[in-house]
Amino acid sequence: MDFQNVYISDDIVSDLRRECSGWSADSVFILVDENTKGLCLPKIKADDFFKDVKVVEIKANDDHKSLEALASVWTFLCNNGASRKSLMINVGGGMVTDLGGFAASTFKRGMEYINVPTTLLGAVDAAVGGKTGINFNGLKNEIGVINPSKSVVIDVNFFKTLDRENFLSGYAEMIKHGLISNDAVWRNILAFDLHDIDYQKLPHLLKESINVKEMIVEKDPYEMNVRKSLNLGHTVGHAFESYAMQSKAVLHGYAVAWGLIAELYLSYKKCGFPSSVLQQAVGLIKSNYGVLNISCKQYELLYELMTHDKKNEGDGRILFTLLKDVGEVEINVNVEKKDIFEALDFYRDSVGL
Ligand code: GLY
Repeated sequence: MDFQNVYISDDIVSDLRRECSGWSADSVFILVDENTKGLCLPKIKADDFFKDVKVVEIKANDDHKSLEALASVWTFLCNNGASRKSLMINVGGGMVTDLGGFAASTFKRGMEYINVPTTLLGAVDAAVGGKTGINFNGLKNEIGVINPSKSVVIDVNFFKTLDRENFLSGYAEMIKHGLISNDAVWRNILAFDLHDIDYQKLPHLLKESINVKEMIVEKDPYEMNVRKSLNLGHTVGHAFESYAMQSKAVLHGYAVAWGLIAELYLSYKKCGFPSSVLQQAVGLIKSNYGVLNISCKQYELLYELMTHDKKNEGDGRILFTLLKDVGEVEINVNVEKKDIFEALDFYRDSVGL
């Protein structure tokens, strides 16, 4: 599998121009949603090279990561002369890069695409690593392909319009990357001031974090083994996210951050993860992410939700990605119900419920 170049850009327009001219595409399409159309597209279209690109627009939000929205993009491409040699630039958060990547990967059996993630979460996760797709039949990311973009071009200036919650949502995946990489990256993650975001320091931290993901994905693009490291925090996190959806949806990264508390506890209990690092992570999460309010009455439901996790192998066992230490990952760890409930107790105690 070819791998993507990731650029953290000082000058997004010239980086994009260079990437596009390098491939002599016969025409260029830009996919935006209603937010990035207003906030990001003008910066790109102001450049002469991009003034005649064809702009495809979809509605924002995960609800629209749908077959209907996908079909509208395919229809636009068909009606506007796209060919296999055309190029699509996806400008948006994870929803846009996932759907646009899938539209491009399947149109006439595949055209090239570039991702321009405009959220921190998109930049550190969805836009990198080649997972593309849509939600289907009530299930998230049910249909899709793994096909990396040719490049990912990131302008951290776009993140300045994110509210604190959306910034923190992305940062949760960076916390995860710190934990699965090494002490140096983890220390940098702990040291970054989340109350006074330094946009001069962010590019370095971001690059370090994306490298963690890229190195893992390069070894295992199809998630047969080490890519499962990236699921740390997500077994409990996805269950929290689905549970919250029944009343008030929470941002993905918040659910992952709370999930990390429970899963680092399981790491401590089952794999000897150091309690000092567990406490560092709990401190960071507790002081920034607030709480998801659960009581022991929800444990059975949360457990049931975990049994549907994509990482399980269909034999009823719940398989976790856990850590022996920072950077020492154990995949496919079967955890019993009583230990999961204990981890949920730990989560509640840690956040003060
Ligand atoms: N979001 C995890 C992965 O890309 O594998």
